[in-house]
Amino acid sequence: MEKIQIETEFEVYKELAELPETVSKLMAQATKARLRAYAPYSNFLVGAAILLDNGEIITGNNQENASYPSGLCAERTAIYYAGSQYPKAKILQMALIAGSTKSKTTTPVPPCGACRQAIAEYEIKQDAPIDIYFMGETGTIMRSKSLRNLLPFIFEKEIL
Ligand code: THU
Repeated sequence: MEKIQIETEFEVYKELAELPETVSKLMAQATKARLRAYAPYSNFLVGAAILLDNGEIITGNNQENASYPSGLCAERTAIYYAGSQYPKAKILQMALIAGSTKSKTTTPVPPCGACRQAIAEYEIKQDAPIDIYFMGETGTIMRSKSLRNLLPFIFEKEIL
């Protein structure tokens, strides 16, 4: 028997003012997108903003459905749109903000497992890390310089 340890790394920022201006602007776009989320079932609104290497910013939010599993998270709504509109562009950064309308979400909200898998596909496709910032409605912001910190042991195409 052998043990394998995988180390991952995150940066924690106390407040938005601590972020580089370009990132806080991206987070502001995610915040706007969050307010357009369609989440009548969970009342949990999520916004995503993606910066591409061609300068475009793509935003998305969660879209729910009466048939619950038919809904889609903000991250995948945004990243699939980016992939469909700009298939050759590289994704440089993602800003994510999430919170309930019932209470204030003050801790960082990381992307769900399915979204991590979706983001992984694009990071591998473009062969360059995606810089991900995520937060609750307020409070600290966490940064993962690559999706690999959030999903270190990836199911990827080489396995197929
Ligand atoms: N949600 C996201 O949009 N992204 C995530 O990474 C986690 C969850 C959405 C899905 C659903 O509409 C609501 O948040 C509650 O799970």
